[in-house]
Amino acid sequence: MKEPRAEDGGRRAESGEPRGESHEPRATSHEPRTESCEPRAASGVDMAVEVAGIRMQNPVLTASGTFGYAQEFETHLDLNRLGGLVVKTITRLPRPGNPAPRIAETPAGMLNAIGLQNVGIDVFIREKLPYLRTLAPPLIVNVAGESVEDFRELTKRIGDQEGVAGIELNISCPNVACGLDFSTDPRLTYQVVKAAREATRLPLIPKLSPNVTDIRVIAKAAEEAGADGISLINTLVGMAIDVRTRRPKIANITGGLSGPAIRPVAVRMVWQVAQAVKLPIIGMGGIVSEEDAAEFLIAGATAVAVGTANFIDPTNVLKVISGLEQYCLANGISAARQLVGSLNLADQRICPLIGSPPLP
Ligand SMILES: Cc1cc2nc3c(=O)[nH]c(=O)nc-3n(C[C@H](O)[C@H](O)[C@H](O)COP(=O)(O)O)c2cc1C
Repeated sequence: MKEPRAEDGGRRAESGEPRGESHEPRATSHEPRTESCEPRAASGVDMAVEVAGIRMQNPVLTASGTFGYAQEFETHLDLNRLGGLVVKTITRLPRPGNPAPRIAETPAGMLNAIGLQNVGIDVFIREKLPYLRTLAPPLIVNVAGESVEDFRELTKRIGDQEGVAGIELNISCPNVACGLDFSTDPRLTYQVVKAAREATRLPLIPKLSPNVTDIRVIAKAAEEAGADGISLINTLVGMAIDVRTRRPKIANITGGLSGPAIRPVAVRMVWQVAQAVKLPIIGMGGIVSEEDAAEFLIAGATAVAVGTANFIDPTNVLKVISGLEQYCLANGISAARQLVGSLNLADQRICPLIGSPPLP
């Protein structure tokens, strides 16, 4: 593991790799991380947003588990152009993850059952965090526990570290045994978020599961327990079978469906949650283009995260950022945040009980 240093930026400059218009990596880990994340002024569009008190130079983040610990991507793109970084879920102990095969391609996305493979919190703090601190975009660390007490401990330890802007609570992983999917139950959601709330003053952003009947009940439980924002959605439980062998395509049998196939579900849930709680939302699920990102913002998300698309093209997230800026420019929108919750429902009937149009 290479030590994080300001030389990283110098090395890239010497090697002639493009740096775009971003900020230099920070030389120390002691400065506040978000100061240098001012909106880029090239187009005149103000791309800055604030989510749960975290200022971001633009509303586009990387989704947990699809961008490693960021360093893996540094040769592909200028990480300092991102609105924010969300890293792979960290657990108390290292996890080897599920047996292979763990991924299957689907018509418009993928099915995965990685099983929260990660280095564990000690290695993360010792070996990954120093590098992450050198980057300008705010860092959101995603944690998952097997119990309420795990979440309390993980939150406390991450909250004590320099250079962390916020904590995403992964209470929605569908691919591990023993009930890590706390967010299918409002009481468990409340308990986990409350315990985490007691353990840190950092912004807390629970990540919700779409595998529920009414996502608003879960979001409200998180809000009551003291969450500062909501991330949604995690993957939808799915299954794929190889009809020649009649075996499941992934060893875990079921997996989490992600990618463009789930986008309409995610947009619907963002829209519902935006009406149910006062918290800012980080929306994700199948975002590939700037139009996809705009859809989430219009539905009510304050920021978005790009996930599966990173596997197809590691620079895709930058295309979403610049595309969104161009979209704003082309549509006479001077600040990206003006899009948030701007859904036009004029002349549309909404059922107040279910927060969605009445059935046909
Ligand atoms: C291979 C893979 C691994 C993932 N790992 C995590 C994870 O560790 N923690 C987490 O909160 N979400 C994880 N996710 C879920 C994504 O962060 C995201 O919520 C979901 O995939 C929907 O966005 P997308 O369709 O843009 O990928 C993972 C998704 C994929 C595809």
